[in-house]
Amino acid sequence: MSRTLTFRIFRFDPQLPGDKPMMQEYQLQEAPGMTVFIALNVLREQQDPTLQFDFVCRAGICGSCAMVINGLPTLACRTLTSNFNNGVITLMPLPGFELIGDLSVNTGKFMRALSERLQAWLNPKEVNQDMHRLERPMEPELADAIYESERCIECGCCVSACATAQMKETFVGAVGFNKVARFALDDRDARDAEEFYHIIGDEDGVFGCMTLLGCQDTCPKNLDHQGQIAYLRRKLSSPERII
Ligand code: SF4
Ligand code: SF4
Ligand code: FES
Repeated sequence: MSRTLTFRIFRFDPQLPGDKPMMQEYQLQEAPGMTVFIALNVLREQQDPTLQFDFVCRAGICGSCAMVINGLPTLACRTLTSNFNNGVITLMPLPGFELIGDLSVNTGKFMRALSERLQAWLNPKEVNQDMHRLERPMEPELADAIYESERCIECGCCVSACATAQMKETFVGAVGFNKVARFALDDRDARDAEEFYHIIGDEDGVFGCMTLLGCQDTCPKNLDHQGQIAYLRRKLSSPERII
């Protein structure tokens, strides 16, 4: 006999004149292997078609289904309802992002603005590339480190879990540090430490980070934020930068 789950879900549609934020309660029979994502789909199909939430991949790859589940920012499609012993699950939208409605937030707009601000793209050393030339080899350790940063799915959990980002809208945060570290590591990028210093070498950047590592605790891809923040701080404060 399966148990009855209680969902307490944040409801608010900012597009609807006069709508007010509230928590709405739903009941649902738990199924084996049920995730919060599956439960939300059942609720929407069977009880409330107006419920807003996002998903694309259902497999922890797209980052769309991030929300605050019983107080922790995480992915709904990777969270089993069986994790919660008392069967009560509270769902809130990720703080720090524009609310679209209910559990849906606009992380895409945030991530795009952040990438533009940080110039998170390769600034190639060689401007006139010969498209027919063989690719220049890269040390496997360096390729691995770059690949590791590329695993970020831009879900936004690290932004919502970061007290500094929540207090200070201009703070770059862990997802931004990860973007910068990816290009600072890449020896094909023309920018030196001085240039990266001008992008994140202040209180809005790595020197404003409190290093309490809420980002690392909540990142569903287990990225090494602690290592990256240390790497960027060392790189930006090294004598090489000051020359
Ligand atoms: S270590 Fe703390 S302050 Fe720094 S980015 Fe991570 S959560 Fe934010
Ligand atoms: S660093 Fe981790 S928590 Fe932050 S956006 Fe990327 S995958 Fe999500
Ligand atoms: S639906 Fe893509 S990460 Fe959950």
